[in-house]
Amino acid sequence: MTPADVAHRHGVVLDDHPLLPGSMSGSTVVTGVRDGQAVVVKITVHDSDEATGRARREFAALTGLALPIPMPRVLAGEVTAEHTVVVMRAHRPALTEEHPVPSLPLWTSLVDLLARLHATPMPLDSPADSLWRYQGWSELDPVNDRPALDLLWSTPQTRSQLQRVLDHRDGLEVLASAAEEEFVHGDCHWGNVVTDNGDPLLVDWQSAGIGRGTDDLAFLLTRAAADLDVVPRTTVIADYAARRGLDPAEVEARVTARQLLVLALQYPAFVSYLHPRAVERLHTLFVQLRHRPR
Ligand SMILES: Nc1ncnc2c1ncn2[C@@H]1O[C@H](COP(=O)(O)OP(=O)(O)OP(=O)(O)O)[C@@H](O)[C@H]1O
Ligand SMILES: [Mg+2]
Repeated sequence: MTPADVAHRHGVVLDDHPLLPGSMSGSTVVTGVRDGQAVVVKITVHDSDEATGRARREFAALTGLALPIPMPRVLAGEVTAEHTVVVMRAHRPALTEEHPVPSLPLWTSLVDLLARLHATPMPLDSPADSLWRYQGWSELDPVNDRPALDLLWSTPQTRSQLQRVLDHRDGLEVLASAAEEEFVHGDCHWGNVVTDNGDPLLVDWQSAGIGRGTDDLAFLLTRAAADLDVVPRTTVIADYAARRGLDPAEVEARVTARQLLVLALQYPAFVSYLHPRAVERLHTLFVQLRHRPR
């Protein structure tokens, strides 16, 4: 069955050039019209356990968990043995060619949204289900994958920072994980933010599950540091801490620990997707972040 057939079954006529960018996950995301309304259709074929899990998490988050935050509006959907389909209202992307940089109020609204999500009492009926303990990007091995690490961390300064991270790896992991478990989005970056009347909404819930809220923040700040010239990191952390009633220094330390681990051991796997300017920005961030063991 083609995406057009699937869409048609849900009353959607696809646009002439329907394919949306992204789909690193293997889902097909297309645009169309349903009852005169612009929609986005996301189709995930259950061709592996991984894909089925991704689809189940997203479908539950969008339709079943009743998360107490504004969500993209779901108009139709189905789960069959073969695939999961979600038809959503087409919201406006947060960043566009005309507005490629988030305003400070938009940053603040996104941080507020994350703080509300993370403050939600665990919304899962069976939190023990391994479905909700998804590790999207696993860490590379510092020995076996050393050539990949060295390809990204190629300057004397970034090399010595990498060595510091490897020397303190266990302590960083303990610090990054030193908090209660929370329900998190798991893939929070500006490409997964759309807006409704100017307010941010998160799409792409395929990595959602149990984690630490500060990990969403760390991932958001790291992706943003690769893509943007200016990231209001201190404000973001202060806003988040205030919303959660947490000590900003503690949030800073946990976010920094996670960012160092993500940069050192996850980013090298994606080096071929990174623009040279993004590599430069990541180098700057990596050497700036300071782990203060406690
Ligand atoms: N409801 C929506 N309204 C507007 N745009 C949307 C909507 N849902 C998704 N998009 C756009 O489509 C893109 C791809 O969707 P999504 O991130 O859910 O798919 P994905 O296959 O998991 O992508 P990736 O793996 O690249 O993150 C999003 O980054 C977003 O720009
Ligand atoms: Mg996405």
